[in-house]
Amino acid sequence: MTNIFDEQLTKTHSSLRTIDWKNNIVIMIDQTKLPNKLEYVEFSDYHDVANAIKNLVVRGAPAIGVSGAFGLALAALQSKAKTKEGLLEDLGKARKVLFETRPTAVNLAWALDRIMMVAKEGKDVPTIKESVINAAKKMAEEDVQTNKKMGKHGAELFENNDTIMTHCNAGALATVGYGTALGVIRATKESGKQIKVIATETRPVMQGSRLTAFELKHDGIDVSLIADTAVGYVMAKGLVTKVIVGADRILRTGHVYNKIGTYQIALIARQHKIPFYVAAPLSTFDLKSNPEDVIIEQRKASEVTAVAGKKTAPDDIGVINPAFDMTPPELVTYIITEAGIAKPPFVESIKKLFE
Ligand code: MRU
Repeated sequence: MTNIFDEQLTKTHSSLRTIDWKNNIVIMIDQTKLPNKLEYVEFSDYHDVANAIKNLVVRGAPAIGVSGAFGLALAALQSKAKTKEGLLEDLGKARKVLFETRPTAVNLAWALDRIMMVAKEGKDVPTIKESVINAAKKMAEEDVQTNKKMGKHGAELFENNDTIMTHCNAGALATVGYGTALGVIRATKESGKQIKVIATETRPVMQGSRLTAFELKHDGIDVSLIADTAVGYVMAKGLVTKVIVGADRILRTGHVYNKIGTYQIALIARQHKIPFYVAAPLSTFDLKSNPEDVIIEQRKASEVTAVAGKKTAPDDIGVINPAFDMTPPELVTYIITEAGIAKPPFVESIKKLFE
């Protein structure tokens, strides 16, 4: 694992580029170092990619998906198999390691399955290796294009002088580039509308202050930071006109799984009649599961008992640390995707998006 700094890479697509593939190596921004250092890490072993996903070096549903795909591309290169069957077996093992990193974001399974399908279609070892790498690279490029399409659809919902609240980081850093919720914000600004953003800190690991505030400042978008506990205050004061968040998984019923804290923001927004929008690509939809099937990732206690490595709670305190929560469809105004905007009743409108 080495660190490189490539200013040019960050400028791709006029916003940060989170993951890339160069000379058979995966390059990603180390998001654990932000906002203090913009550092890149390089991986040539898929086990390191799996660890990077687990440890939040790379995070955000679409970024995790593309990282998984590149992980499989590395696994293909690492495989010493001489037959198609042997290579598929090695890829199957790598798929399991990558899949088991984080359970809630459905984009990971989606991306891994897509690459496995490409591998199964290949006729021999060299063609499979080549097609797996090409499919992963294509997926990364498609991610940016998808976000731009989503941005165009979503921008129509925003007006001049809107102040938009967002939670966690659903930006360029959560995708390959441009972002989902922040992609819509970028597209709104690019369409000439004056907008302001309010970003929540997003405890416990501060994706809002470390990542969203960082990337919006990087792109010159007006952003103010609030503590998570100030959401009710700013909404009651009339300081927020719309909310937009990303998602890790959306069910066919419109149940939205996103960063812990999203549900309470949706509840307060409803109390103050503020529209609550979700922006996510079709790869974030899970049309098969019901709410009781979805596993909410539980993360380590130290994320809650310390801030920036400094202890803020007594030793041996019990901790509940879910990474995500579920916002029920009745609190969601619209869901913005690359295929259009889904409006209630979501069972019908989501079905249409996939037709
Ligand atoms: O734990 P994280 O940082 O991976 O959680 C990320 C989120 O909850 C994002 O809002 C979600 O993945 C949407 S990203 C476009």
